[in-house]
Amino acid sequence: MSQDRGQFSSRLGFILAAAGSAVGLGNLVAFPVMASKNGGAAFLIIYLFFIAFICYPVMMAEIAMGRKTQRNPVGAFSELSNGDKKWRLVGMLGILTPFMIAVFYTVITVWLVVYLKEIATGSLDVLVDEATFATVVAQPSLFVYLVLLFVLVFCVLLGGVKGGIERLARVLMPALAVMLILLTLFVFTLDNASAGISYYLVPDFSKVNFSVINGALSQAFFSLSLGMGILITYGSYFSRQDNIPQSTRLVAIADTSIAFFAGLLILPAIFAFDPNTNTDELSTSSVGLIFSFLPKIFLSMQVAVGYVGASIVALVFFMLVFFAALTSLVSIIEIPISCWIDEWGLSRKKAVLLQAVLLMIFTVPATMSLGMSDFFTNFTSYGGATRSFFDVISNVFYETILPLVGFTVCMFCAYRWKASGLSEELAKGDPDYQGSLLQKYINFSIGTVIPAVLLVVFISTVYQIYL
Ligand code: PHE
Repeated sequence: MSQDRGQFSSRLGFILAAAGSAVGLGNLVAFPVMASKNGGAAFLIIYLFFIAFICYPVMMAEIAMGRKTQRNPVGAFSELSNGDKKWRLVGMLGILTPFMIAVFYTVITVWLVVYLKEIATGSLDVLVDEATFATVVAQPSLFVYLVLLFVLVFCVLLGGVKGGIERLARVLMPALAVMLILLTLFVFTLDNASAGISYYLVPDFSKVNFSVINGALSQAFFSLSLGMGILITYGSYFSRQDNIPQSTRLVAIADTSIAFFAGLLILPAIFAFDPNTNTDELSTSSVGLIFSFLPKIFLSMQVAVGYVGASIVALVFFMLVFFAALTSLVSIIEIPISCWIDEWGLSRKKAVLLQAVLLMIFTVPATMSLGMSDFFTNFTSYGGATRSFFDVISNVFYETILPLVGFTVCMFCAYRWKASGLSEELAKGDPDYQGSLLQKYINFSIGTVIPAVLLVVFISTVYQIYL
């Protein structure tokens, strides 16, 4: 095994890094809007149910696979199946998925950098213009920001697991929590904020239908960074003495709490902007909301706090989103890097450089897919719409494939590694695990209910997007 693999310094280091990965655009924007559109607290209850009964076991299974083998997803599937080619191939899906997600997540993060710069230089009013987003995403100067972001991200990754990833999370995660609390308290002072809070928290079960339930599970899965190979890899950096069930629980609680609190920020802000907001009309697309809608809301706060005050609030919010995106981006790019280190015996430095080149090759066309290049903008069409290169990657790897990867993890743990292998690993560092109710539940569900539910979600998503 290469000595370049690295390890988290402590349980807290793991929890912060895993939470850093989990907390992203999904928590800060998609969750609040989804919850308010789909019955408020009614959606929240369904979401919590899925987190506890479906996602939590899959999280533990991924982490256990990584810790047992001390390998990346390809290595983990391969080693636990004694080199079975079929499973190795499944592991490759666990590398391809994060590789491609990193491509379009990088593009979105670059836009965030541009918005941060615009707000900091006093141009919040320009961002409010409907046409601005289309101009920003098509401007060639994006490549300058792209290079800057690459330097930042790959320097962190060069620092390794402890000195890079964990260090970043130790600084950014507490900062993120403080900014979220301060912004929420500020928004509570605005007129009509309470209308947003009650819209968010009063349950309306009449809105719940199959597609809402399906959406809740997809969102929960995505929000916890499941099916992306991240937890397998982070598990491989987790000490054998530490307690997986307990640490995983803390990561899930942190992620869900941040999503919940983001709702307490976004919804009151939206209602303060327009007390008659019809949330059905809000787009659930994080991209549309962050870049086109939220700047308007921040600018409207100038009545209360002046232009500079509104710009400061917007700046803090965009920093928050940027920090969340950065820790998620670093986590996802680490997965192929860990693969190059383990499987090809590369040093961390070489693996990081290789990944930087590979990622750049795909990120450039993805950046050009929003107007800069005709070919990549009108790349293909399906499901009745023209799709850009960026759309294809986002549709396939972000919106569709995660439950399928989760399904393969469950099937693998239940039928190849076997429940006894999984239990043995989960019991290391947790003296109470063997014989517990949790163990009984996981042993029963990991090969039955959970993969069945994930398969249903996968199939219905395919149906919705492509047919
Ligand atoms: N969990 C992240 C979110 O909620 C998703 C993500 C993680 C995306 C890592 C990319 C990389 O937004």
